[in-house]
Amino acid sequence: MASDKQDFKALWGGRFTGGLDPLMALYNASFPYDKKMYAADLEGTRVYTAGLHKLGLLSDHELSEIHRGLAEILKEWEEGKFVEKENDEDIHTANERRLGEIIGRDISGKVHTGRSRNDQVATDMRIYVREQLGELRNILKEFLSVFVKRAEVEIDILMPGYTHLQRAQPIRWSHWLLSYATYFAADLARLEQIIERINVSPLGSGALAGHPYGIDRNFLAKELGFNGVIPNSLTAVSDRDFVVETMFWGSLFMNHISRFSEDLIIYSTAEFGFVSLADAYSTGSSLMPQKKNADSLELLRGKSGRVFGSLAGFMMTLKSVPSTYDKDLQEDKEPLFDVLTSVSHSISIATGVLSTLSVNREKMIAALTPDMLATDLADYLVRKGVPFRETHHISGEVVRLSEETNAGGIDKLSLGQLQGVDSRFGEDVRAEVFDYEKSVERRTAIGGTARVAIFDQIDRLKKLL
Ligand code: ARG
Repeated sequence: MASDKQDFKALWGGRFTGGLDPLMALYNASFPYDKKMYAADLEGTRVYTAGLHKLGLLSDHELSEIHRGLAEILKEWEEGKFVEKENDEDIHTANERRLGEIIGRDISGKVHTGRSRNDQVATDMRIYVREQLGELRNILKEFLSVFVKRAEVEIDILMPGYTHLQRAQPIRWSHWLLSYATYFAADLARLEQIIERINVSPLGSGALAGHPYGIDRNFLAKELGFNGVIPNSLTAVSDRDFVVETMFWGSLFMNHISRFSEDLIIYSTAEFGFVSLADAYSTGSSLMPQKKNADSLELLRGKSGRVFGSLAGFMMTLKSVPSTYDKDLQEDKEPLFDVLTSVSHSISIATGVLSTLSVNREKMIAALTPDMLATDLADYLVRKGVPFRETHHISGEVVRLSEETNAGGIDKLSLGQLQGVDSRFGEDVRAEVFDYEKSVERRTAIGGTARVAIFDQIDRLKKLL
């Protein structure tokens, strides 16, 4: 390609006499993946040239020609008619090359006055990422609303709560749902904060040292919808912390998705049978006809590794990049875009899974066992004035008695047997303690399993949405 000197018109070609090694050209090009920022790039140029015009560096006619050309290029991209050329190294050079073809190089040659691809790419990326994160925010809200709806409708369903994956205490299914909604609500809040932090403008910083014609950076920032400017030109062109933060956000979010999926994978096994995935989110085995696998959830769990890998990889790239722009920074795009896509698809799949899975309330109830009420038995005596340390011990003795006598559960022991352990057990002990519904209803404090506490959680989430 580039061996023909006549045709070789790279943007920076002035001081270069030879062509690029063709492999180097491929290695160097970011166009195959950065072209998705075409709209941000055109918008940046539209506003930047308005800034040049304010300085008197472009005439009215030149500015209107430039804006006409940019609008036409945008249309080409949107209609899939943009024709890519061999020397299009990245989205910035491609758009500028096309602008020259449409309005003539005499005018298009002025748009880059005082600008560098260094401040240009940093600007494009911030515009692109804030927009993508805005979309993630919307689908994350939809995901959260599924939790809220199910938690409301299915509030009567009880299930075992676990610690160490051992049955611990009865909870409401809604409580389990809302536990993850609480994580995802925190993810939503974090996302909103990140969008704010990303939204500052590098434009008008030049290659590194600032703008030689005193461009109004506040004007550029305001026109592009930024909240302010990055106050140091060296930082403006080299700061990729917003890329790291976005990928960290994605990694933590995927971590939550992964734990959520892991629970559901366990709950959907035949051994548990608490939930059943809709066919739309399961697949079969090519060998075993009876299999229905929770592939959607396994992929959600698996993708968390990939997303974190992108973050870890780019952190390694970034850690020793010297001031200011170095080509290493071009390596920010592929992992970032992959994170955005993986997270977006994961939210949509998780929303589909959660809104279509069916809950087997009988299986959940059947998994509740009276020993899970041993703490409630201890609490019963606490209400009668016995210190908890003592009641904990007494309840433990009751559990042992039940095991030794093969009673088939602490609830099967007679009142006489219970009183044999401690005389303070009264007539009301069975009705008061051995009732799962009463157990969850007793936990009325904020964050607990009682109906009132669940509705409090639901209300808080509704306010967010
Ligand atoms: N494609 C480049 C990137 O994404 C644009 C910036 C190029 N700047 C430069 N000085 N070569 O990082």
